[in-house]
Amino acid sequence: MSSGGPLRLAILISGRGSNMGAIASACAAGNIQARVDLVLSERPEAGGLETARAMGIPTGTVPWTGPAQRDLFEGALKAALAAARADVIVLAGFMRILSGEFVQAHAGRILNIHPSLLPHYRGLHTHRRVLEAGEPVHGASVHFVTAELDGGPVILQSRIAVRPRDTEATLSARVQRTEHIIYPRVIGWLAEGRLAWREERPWLDGKPLTAPLVEDFP
Ligand code: GRF
Repeated sequence: MSSGGPLRLAILISGRGSNMGAIASACAAGNIQARVDLVLSERPEAGGLETARAMGIPTGTVPWTGPAQRDLFEGALKAALAAARADVIVLAGFMRILSGEFVQAHAGRILNIHPSLLPHYRGLHTHRRVLEAGEPVHGASVHFVTAELDGGPVILQSRIAVRPRDTEATLSARVQRTEHIIYPRVIGWLAEGRLAWREERPWLDGKPLTAPLVEDFP
C-alpha cells in the first residue's frame, strides 16, 4: 500500500460502471481518502469508460484474448495496473474470471462486489434466482477476492427485504442502490487502515473479521 497520501485505486469494469461512478464520486467529494488512478475494461464499448473520462479519470482497455491466451490478457492487465501504481484493484461489474496466479500475485489487494448475500447465490442472474426461490431477503456483498470464484471472505453486506411485487428489474435496482453505499464505505475503511488483509484473512479495527458485517436497508 502507499505510504501516506490517498489509497490509489484501479477499477476494472465491463459495463455501465455505476459502482465505479459511486466510488469515484466518494473520492472526489473527499468522503474517502482514496483516488481513482485508472479505470480499465476488457470491452472498449463499456459505458463506464465514458463516465470515467467525463470525471477526468484515466481509462484504458485491455482486450480479452480468449481463454487459451489468458496469460497474455493478464500480463497486459498487470502491466497497466503496475504503471498506475495501484494499491487496490476494485472489481466493479468486471465479467472476466481472474486466474489463481493473478489473484495470488495481488493477494489481499483485490475487492469485488457481488449481487447476493454470499455464500448464497454465487455466479450469474442472482436477482432472478432469488425471486424464483421465493427468498425473503436479498442483497449485495463486498469481499476480498481469492482464487475461489465469489468465495473470498466477505467484509460487508447490504440486506433488503424482497417485496411481493418485486421483479428482476426492481430488485436489481434496489440492490444496486445499496451497492453504491457499501462499496465506497469498505474502500474508505481500507484507506483509513481500519480494514487490512493479514495472515490470509481480513482484519477490522485490529481484530480478525470472522463473519461479514450486515447492514439492513429499506
Ligand atoms: C453490480 O450489480 C455488481 O454487483 C455486479 O455487477 C454489477 C455492476 O454494475 N458485480 P455496474 O457496472 O457497477 O453498474
